[in-house]
Amino acid sequence: MEQVAPKNNFHVSIIMTGSPGVFEPANIGGISVRNRFIRSATHEGMADTAGAPLESLEKLYVRLARGGVGAIVTGYAGVLPQGRCCFPGMLMMHDDALVPAYRRLVEAVHREGSPLIMQLAHCGSQTRSAVTGMRTVAPSPIRDRYYSEEVPQELTEAGIREIIDAFVDAAERAQAAGFDGVQLHLAHGYLLSQFLSGHSNRRRDHWGGSLENRFRIVSEIMDGIRRRLGKYPVLAKINGYDGMSGGMRQEEAVKIAMMLEASGCSAVEISSGTIAEGLAIMRGPRVPIDALLVANFKVAAVPRFLRSGFARILPLVSPSSPKPYHSYNLDAASVIRKAVSIPVVLVGGIHTFMDASRAIEDGAADFVSMSRPFIIEPSIVKRYEEGRQDASKCSMCNDCAIMIEKEPLRCWNGRVRQGV
Ligand SMILES: Cc1cc2nc3c(=O)[nH]c(=O)nc-3n(C[C@H](O)[C@H](O)[C@H](O)COP(=O)(O)O)c2cc1C
Repeated sequence: MEQVAPKNNFHVSIIMTGSPGVFEPANIGGISVRNRFIRSATHEGMADTAGAPLESLEKLYVRLARGGVGAIVTGYAGVLPQGRCCFPGMLMMHDDALVPAYRRLVEAVHREGSPLIMQLAHCGSQTRSAVTGMRTVAPSPIRDRYYSEEVPQELTEAGIREIIDAFVDAAERAQAAGFDGVQLHLAHGYLLSQFLSGHSNRRRDHWGGSLENRFRIVSEIMDGIRRRLGKYPVLAKINGYDGMSGGMRQEEAVKIAMMLEASGCSAVEISSGTIAEGLAIMRGPRVPIDALLVANFKVAAVPRFLRSGFARILPLVSPSSPKPYHSYNLDAASVIRKAVSIPVVLVGGIHTFMDASRAIEDGAADFVSMSRPFIIEPSIVKRYEEGRQDASKCSMCNDCAIMIEKEPLRCWNGRVRQGV
């Protein structure tokens, strides 16, 4: 890909010190990537009820690819109906019948020069049986602080084996559909992340206790994929820490990254937080109160005559994001990068050109990935490349993150107004 001449002094300094620039091509486990920018997995709500991608998703990915992104990671795709999220339009990869629809999607993205990686997930107890029609499951029967309607069922040995097979089968389907690789979702409190975290995994059998035991489910998935698909690229998104009492600490995340590397993982993306922590995963200066009032299932459960009182209390009781709002997983990524030799991808608040170039120049990460900046501006990378390097237009209002409970993904730019 053509290299664009540096347009400012900061970028010149990157080139003079010999550090890789953000526009330098690179490779992830055999996937050629034209620059260091990745679209981080973002649920789009653009699948039909079977979980097959809609035309709107193809249009979105084509816009992202034309906009210069290095690689796209899909929104999370469910490996089993039991692990489906409770938002509409989730991608699914649990059935061979879905493969032809994905093949068309992949071909369209490849024509525009971008690799496409499918994120595979099981939501564990971060979903609702009222939506999936199935009891939620988890490593241990601990009520989720956010999805608190039900106590998840503790997984049996057979249940765990079924989930391992489901991830391996889904990876095989992704390969058959032409995806350049898969990313295992081991972050944000979903099922595999629940196994890794001592907060949610209280098991005393060989799936719990020591870090090696908590990692066993991931290790078996990796082994299964390696046995069946050889060197097919498998990436992972992990929490650098999860903020839960007795949960994942940074030292454990370093060991998990090393275990992933040893198991043949191609790259590790560093995030943090769980859904129960509110907006710790996607931080921002304000709680999206109006969007919560319009779209959130917990608010919908409040009787109508109590809603306006509730609307006044909500801002007082809703947890706001921890600070900082920019590059908030940088420290964790940089510590992990020193411990592994596979590429490290940094996500979380990379909302200025400086956030991105500093992470790469300082050696904290090999790639940066972004979610919200691409929602408001799918061609942000092209703009940066052309030298227009103003910050993302995203105001971190987080209306997008709440409104996906109701509608397909779009940027609301703080304009959702409550319909109490
Ligand atoms: C609307 C929305 C949907 C998201 N869906 C996913 C997802 O499917 N899988 C995932 O790993 N992260 C998901 N995330 C988290 C992002 O990938 C990213 O980790 C987080 O937003 C922080 O990055 P940012 O500051 O660039 O937005 C989502 C974020 C948003 C805003």
